Amino acid sequence: MTSLAKTSARSVAAQVLAAVISEQRSLTAVLAEHIKLVEERDRGFCQQLCYGVIRWQPRLTLIADKLLKKPLKHKDTDIQALLLIGLYQLSELKTPPHAAISETVNAAKQLGKQWAGGLLNACLRNYQRQQNEIDAAIETDKQAIYAHPPWLLERYQLDWPEQWQQICEANNQQPPMMLRVNKQQNDRDSYLQLLAAEGIEARAMDAGNEAVLLTSPCDVHKLPGFFEGMASVQDGAAQLVADLLDIQPGQRILDACAAPGGKTGHILEQAPDNQVIALDISDIRLESIAENLSRLNLSASLAAADAADTGLWWDGEAFDRILIDAPCTGSGVIRRHPDIKLLRRPEDIDQLAATQQQIMDNLWPLLKPGGLMVYTTCSAFKQENEQQIEAFLQRHPDAGEVRPDRPPAQPRPFGFQRLPGDDVMDGFYYACLQRR
Ligand SMILES: C[S@@+](CC[C@H](N)C(=O)[O-])C[C@H]1O[C@@H](n2cnc3c(N)ncnc32)[C@H](O)[C@@H]1O
Repeated sequence: MTSLAKTSARSVAAQVLAAVISEQRSLTAVLAEHIKLVEERDRGFCQQLCYGVIRWQPRLTLIADKLLKKPLKHKDTDIQALLLIGLYQLSELKTPPHAAISETVNAAKQLGKQWAGGLLNACLRNYQRQQNEIDAAIETDKQAIYAHPPWLLERYQLDWPEQWQQICEANNQQPPMMLRVNKQQNDRDSYLQLLAAEGIEARAMDAGNEAVLLTSPCDVHKLPGFFEGMASVQDGAAQLVADLLDIQPGQRILDACAAPGGKTGHILEQAPDNQVIALDISDIRLESIAENLSRLNLSASLAAADAADTGLWWDGEAFDRILIDAPCTGSGVIRRHPDIKLLRRPEDIDQLAATQQQIMDNLWPLLKPGGLMVYTTCSAFKQENEQQIEAFLQRHPDAGEVRPDRPPAQPRPFGFQRLPGDDVMDGFYYACLQRR
């Protein structure tokens, strides 16, 4: 990718999007690397362009195909991205056409591709003139209506024949920002007062006793006491996991797939003196657990390891609690990570389900009799969730499902499922298993 001096939000967004589209890299990672190239006042706009274009990419690409006489070459993915940026401004942001078009054309110059200015100008002006006809021509295409790739639509439809449209609509919304108040430092009511004193509008949520919903997203720098660990950013759905673990003082707890440590922090906030072992297969991601715990002033034993390869990391002492927040398709959190639409492949589901099964099977013998294993995913696919748990219970006669008095989501035949957007929260699956 070319390095640029501080430059326009649109040209940086085009480069970020080109890396996501052609190199199949994660939007969060690429954006973090490039956002500093944009003037501070334009960073929010650059982020909005990146997330918005990726969110609507399946639809915008169909429109772009109608406007281009022939497809752009692979080396010009940045120009393809600029075209999508222009279309996104015209169709979703309702940016005044003269600004949307001329600034997008200027961005091509900044990318050193002056030749593309005429092409972008012609395509965007044609869209402006023929928007009604073009929109009508794609309106029967589900990919255009729901802005999801066809395989993903089919999969939601298969699993949730009544709810799939509602799931897709929720996936296309901008998610609200939620916080978890650190109960070691203050209670939710007093933190709400601190927020109000800073002019940050917020309310308590039903998801546990620590969850707060902000009326509008806000930079963490503005949150009272954030860097002293008073609060963390975490969706309410993820905060419900700690309750299921039923944490008591004096327990030995394994957080098997822990990075970036959102739930590790919450587990320790319940009982900071507990012995918590946090594993993650990625040593880079493990560093983010250390950073998060240090901000919260909490500590755990951290190890970079494949949780399923117990011979390599287990010291032989059984656990009272095991949390498996499993690697999954993320099909419940597309509103937060819209690049999942682009980066996931249908064959990932089988592969991830096999990994989930192996982690569960290999960790089960490490649980004390009477101990609890909580299995969670941020997926909405049954294969990773209720079907996974049904098969696990068949393979392990010494396992029984615990159904808590306060269910964390809609009860399913096995476990509990929250679909994306239910009670404004992320899509999430929960199951709680006890060893007899
Ligand atoms: C859903 S994320 C965990 C989120 C985390 N629990 C939190 O609340 O912040 C799943 C994590 O599992 C890790 N992972 C994937 N395969 C693993 C394995 N075999 N053993 C341990 N960790 C694994 C990934 O690197 C990823 O960080």
